[in-house]
Amino acid sequence: MTDNQDMIRPGLEGVVAAETTLSSVDGEAGELVIAGYPVEELAPNATFEETAYLLWNGELPGGGELKSFAGMLASHRTVPAATLALLREAAANGVPAMDALRMAAGTLDLDGAAGGSEPAVRAAALAARFPTIVAAYWRLRNGGEPVGPRADLGHAANYLWMLRASEPSAAEARALETYLNTVVDHGLNASTFTARVIVSTGSDLVSAVAGAVGALKGPLHGGAPGPALDMVLEIGSEERAESYIRSKLARGERLMGFGHRVYKVRDPRADVLAAAAERLFGNGGDRDLYRLATKVEETALALLEEQKPGRRLQTNVEFYTALLLHGIGLPNDLFTPTFAVSRVVGWIAHAFEQERAGRLIRPQSVYVGPRGRQWKGTP
Ligand code: ACO
Repeated sequence: MTDNQDMIRPGLEGVVAAETTLSSVDGEAGELVIAGYPVEELAPNATFEETAYLLWNGELPGGGELKSFAGMLASHRTVPAATLALLREAAANGVPAMDALRMAAGTLDLDGAAGGSEPAVRAAALAARFPTIVAAYWRLRNGGEPVGPRADLGHAANYLWMLRASEPSAAEARALETYLNTVVDHGLNASTFTARVIVSTGSDLVSAVAGAVGALKGPLHGGAPGPALDMVLEIGSEERAESYIRSKLARGERLMGFGHRVYKVRDPRADVLAAAAERLFGNGGDRDLYRLATKVEETALALLEEQKPGRRLQTNVEFYTALLLHGIGLPNDLFTPTFAVSRVVGWIAHAFEQERAGRLIRPQSVYVGPRGRQWKGTP
């Protein structure tokens, strides 16, 4: 035991490492504020372009500003030819979509826009191209050809257009936009912290977002919604929920879509997305799935309280992400990449904030290995 050992915070839990004006996460009150707006207020009302402008500029745009900002984003949607070539190669090798996004993100400074000297253009080029990469990859992976972006569609609607080669309904585009707004920023989560660490060394924005994609991929962060939906679909009917979840917990497995490092009450984003899913499903066929999901949630919460008393495990954002994105018609494999399509805007905002703070992020470790060894050569 060294003198410093009581200073260790495994997982940096509870450590405050930055000031931010971007978002405020209150895990005890269950509140998320994005640049001053409660998430319940912003997410269902703003366009994604308005949210991006807000995070990058601190204020919502005026009418003229919004038009030119949206135009600039739309004009940067096309990816470099070499990025497409790489995506073809990745698709031929059956690479998972998040890995393809990480590889492709690293190529985005090839044509000078994303890697150029003008910060607003760099930001726009990166955020505008994430949907293009994901959609092009998805089509290539499924034996199709990429569909070019359409400058007359908003960010969310254009993403669905590039995925499907058909225009989404207004309700689908609105539902996706609500999702993108809901998950755009969330304090110093793991991927945002990754982006800030990279930028703090004086490195560049492309490196920051490529690194952040890698951090987002893991099942403890952005990789949870696919398994969360699988669980609901495998349960299949309300009567099976309790026995299924009991045996999962008895095997020591985690329930995806539940628990959070910061929220000890219900994640407010779950409410926003549940409301959006309910609106989207209306009285159609997926209404049954929505009902089943709420029953699974209720059962999971009761069993988590029974089996893990005092841990305060509540529904997190990923549970209703799965339901909403499924309702929009996105397959499981696109859930985490679609999260990245939104969160890249938050990563960029944090990268700019970190650049302004100008302080290298460099924590310490406590050495607990042996000392005083003598070199005797390799046996
Ligand atoms: N299901 C079952 N048990 C759980 C769950 C869960 N989802 N989450 C935590 N626990 C249990 C742990 O097993 C542990 O039990 P123990 O004390 O008996 O060992 C206790 O609760 C505390 O867990 P920790 O791992 O210390 O909690 P931590 O703060 O590190 O974890 C995390 C947060 C990683 C999100 C966790 O709750 C989890 O794995 N959830 C499932 C994955 C998920 O939904 N991820 C998405 C998070 S939201 C986002 O990143 C966008």
